[in-house]
Amino acid sequence: MNTIEAIKKRKCIRGFLEKPVSRKDIVRLLDIARMAPSSHNMQPWEVAVVTGEALEKLKNALLDALHNRAHRHFDYNYMAKELPNHLKANGDTCNQIVFEYRGIDPKNWSQLAPHLEENLKFFDAPAELVIMTESGIGEGAFIDIGAFSQSLYLAALDLGLGTCPQVSVSQYADITHSVLNIPENKLILFGIALGYPDESAFLNKMPRMPRMPVDKFTIFFE
Ligand SMILES: Cc1cc2nc3c(=O)[nH]c(=O)nc-3n(C[C@H](O)[C@H](O)[C@H](O)COP(=O)(O)O)c2cc1C
Repeated sequence: MNTIEAIKKRKCIRGFLEKPVSRKDIVRLLDIARMAPSSHNMQPWEVAVVTGEALEKLKNALLDALHNRAHRHFDYNYMAKELPNHLKANGDTCNQIVFEYRGIDPKNWSQLAPHLEENLKFFDAPAELVIMTESGIGEGAFIDIGAFSQSLYLAALDLGLGTCPQVSVSQYADITHSVLNIPENKLILFGIALGYPDESAFLNKMPRMPRMPVDKFTIFFE
């Protein structure tokens, strides 16, 4: 698979085989992703690899938070309440595709709850990578971590692994800090569900998410 094919083929995986991912393969993946560019080569990414009993503990704590309707709390300003119309429209389209595909009315809690639970259970992936950075170092670090993450998604694809970036661990950041004993000076940015894709899983057959055409987000100055 060449790079362009890999970029086009990558999509979120939300159904995984029970097969564990070995520590050796996770280290191999991180060893590739660390070659991503970063400002001044600072490499501000940090990763907590969560598997086994720790994963069960984290899932259960996040599910409890959902069931207790706990306050959602990010370590950083994840998304503004008011968004520009075109971005809001893209997000609404994404939600619409997901909810229509799943036959869910998002206003109906008994239908929505299982969908949220699947997210908080990391779609039963055998590993969850919690992506973090130092607090207070500036928003530039987010650019570097975006590059690191995309490198990781593509390397995973090459190794036959599937990934899904998720806010599960960051939307209840206080709980993730507490369960994994992550100090307050680390920002919990997001999580990546990691495992071997179950090609037959219903959620992995969801239509591809649309993208804006190039002329919608590009200006040429000549
Ligand atoms: C930072 C970030 C957070 C995300 N959070 C979630 C999430 O909580 N649950 C989920 O199912 N997908 C999540 N996604 C996946 C996006 O919905 C997905 O990337 C987008 O719809 C495009 O689809 P594709 O990646 O399959 O092409 C997230 C993606 C990113 C980059």
